[in-house]
Amino acid sequence: MANRSPIMNVMVRAADRAARGLKRDFGEVEQLQVSRKGPADFVSSADLKAEQVLREELGKARPDHGFLMEEAGAIAASGTRRWIVDPLDGTTNFLHGLPHFAISIALEEKGEILAGLVYDPVKEELFTAERGGGAYLNGRRLRVSGRERLADSLIGTGIPFMGAGEPEQFALELSQLMDQVSGVRRWGAASLDLAYVAAGRLDGYWERGLSPWDVAAGALLVREAGGMVSAIDGSAWQLAGDDILAANPSLQTPLSALLCGRKAATKAR
Ligand code: IPD
Ligand code: CA
Ligand code: CA
Repeated sequence: MANRSPIMNVMVRAADRAARGLKRDFGEVEQLQVSRKGPADFVSSADLKAEQVLREELGKARPDHGFLMEEAGAIAASGTRRWIVDPLDGTTNFLHGLPHFAISIALEEKGEILAGLVYDPVKEELFTAERGGGAYLNGRRLRVSGRERLADSLIGTGIPFMGAGEPEQFALELSQLMDQVSGVRRWGAASLDLAYVAAGRLDGYWERGLSPWDVAAGALLVREAGGMVSAIDGSAWQLAGDDILAANPSLQTPLSALLCGRKAATKAR
């Protein structure tokens, strides 16, 4: 188990406190499913409360760091570093009582992600990474999967939903990929999709229409676990870009080729 750095301690403490509230609220949401209106308003207030807790905790520990938060947006401060925060990634799952959601916190400076945390409070899985220091799940070192053949691979993605994304583009990509791989999964929380690539549970993951708070922490987890992160077309990944492809090093190029309609050259074994 790696010793936690002071900055990771700050992140873990903040995530723990926000997670306590989210877990309590998730218990309530399960009760609210039967009401006609459903728990939508309750969930958006749970989301806002979690963001407020994270802002308080992180701000108290590092007053000179700014923020980029899903709800509050960009908040400048005196320093060059900022926290990129998604207080509740997987809102739709949360709303429907599906126990798959996470808190995502990244520390960024001049476009570089220095540290990342993704915490799934229901499964009590804490994914952490610091630049150059490796990626960990509950303190255990992570490696991306070693699968080399598309035919053996399990790939995560995100599906466009009402009012968001590009359905035709997605349908094309899925049709080019699905019969070449052993399965495609849509779990509903981008930060955990990336954490699962880092943990070798998924061999690859692609999605469009994302925001920096969905992927900042997860992208560092994948890289620190020995994986690759790019745009879907294989060009350099940008934090401000809206698409991402992450995979183990053997499958990154073949997946990019498939998704872009080019012929994939993989190892035939
Ligand atoms: C969403 C989730 C989902 C992805 C969406 C995101 P939210 O974040 O990460 O998996 O497909 O594009 O917006 O809204 O639950 O924080
Ligand atoms: Ca969110
Ligand atoms: Ca999100």
